[in-house]
Amino acid sequence: MQRLDGKIAIVTGSGIGIGQAIAMRFAAEGAHVWVTDLNGETAEATAQLIRKAGGKATAMLVDVSKGQDVTALVRAVASAHDRADVLVNNAGILVRGELRTLTDAEWTRLSEVNIDGVLRLSRDCLPLLRKSAAGSIINISSIMANRGLRPLAAYTATKGAVTALTRGLAVEYASFNVRVNTIAPGYIETAITERMLKLPQARKLLVDKTPMGRLGFPEDLTGAAVFFASDDSLYCTGSELVVDGGMSASL
Ligand SMILES: NC(=O)c1ccc[n+]([C@@H]2O[C@H](COP(=O)([O-])OP(=O)(O)OC[C@H]3O[C@@H](n4cnc5c(N)ncnc54)[C@H](O)[C@@H]3O)[C@@H](O)[C@H]2O)c1
Repeated sequence: MQRLDGKIAIVTGSGIGIGQAIAMRFAAEGAHVWVTDLNGETAEATAQLIRKAGGKATAMLVDVSKGQDVTALVRAVASAHDRADVLVNNAGILVRGELRTLTDAEWTRLSEVNIDGVLRLSRDCLPLLRKSAAGSIINISSIMANRGLRPLAAYTATKGAVTALTRGLAVEYASFNVRVNTIAPGYIETAITERMLKLPQARKLLVDKTPMGRLGFPEDLTGAAVFFASDDSLYCTGSELVVDGGMSASL
C-alpha cells in the first residue's frame, strides 16, 4: 500500500519546479493529483508525465489570483470526487528589488499571488476538505519568512504572512478535522532562483552558508509534503517543517 492511496490532492503552481516535484511524488504514492498552474501547457505536460508513469492526474489552468479560476477548480473537483483530501498552496512568485524602488504594481502582484492566492484557495477549498476523513493544507513558505536578505523585503513579507496564516487557520480549521502546516524551503534550484544562482559569487556564498554543502532540488521537498499529506501527520497542525540543508540552523 502506498502512503497516499486513494487521496485527492490539489497542487497549485505545479507545472514546473517544487510544485511539479510534489505533484509527481504524490501521484507515485497513489494520489489522484489536480495539477494546476497559471500556465496551462506546463500543467498538462506534468499531468501527462504522471499518467505515463501509471499515475492519476487532471490538469487545469488556474491563476490563484483570480477568484473565477479558483471557483471553477472547486466546482470541477467537487463534480469529479465530491471531496479533496490535500491542498498544497505552492504557487508563488519572487520580485527582487529594494523596497524603495518597488512599484505599487509589483507589490500588488506579489501579494495577490503569494498571500491572496493562499487565502482564497484555503477558504474556497474548505467545503471539499471538510468532506475528507483527514483534510490537509500544506502551505509553501520560505526560511526567508523569519529573516532578512537584501533585496527581498517585500517577498519575505509575503512569506511571513503565509506562515502567520498557517497558524491562524490551523486553530480555525481544527474543528473541521483539517490540518494546516507549512513547509519552509531554503534555497532550491528552480526557475525562481535560476538567475541569481547563475552568478558564481552568489552560488558560492549560499553553498558556503549551507552546512550540508549543497543547495536543494525540488525533489528534496517531496518527503516533507508526503508526510503532511499522509495520515502519518494526523496530530500535526500549525507546524512548520524547515527543509534547507541546515542553512537556518547555522549562524
Ligand atoms: N526555489 C526556492 O529556492 C524557494 C525557496 C523558498 C520558497 N519557495 C517557494 O516555493 C514555491 C514554488 O517555487 P518554485 O521555486 O518551484 O518556483 P517556479 O517559478 O519554478 O514555479 C512556480 C510555479 O508557480 C506558477 N505560478 C506563478 N504564479 C501563479 C499564479 N498566479 N497562479 C498559479 N500558478 C502560478 C508558475 O507558472 C510556476 O509553474 C513558491 O511559493 C516559492 O515562493 C521557493
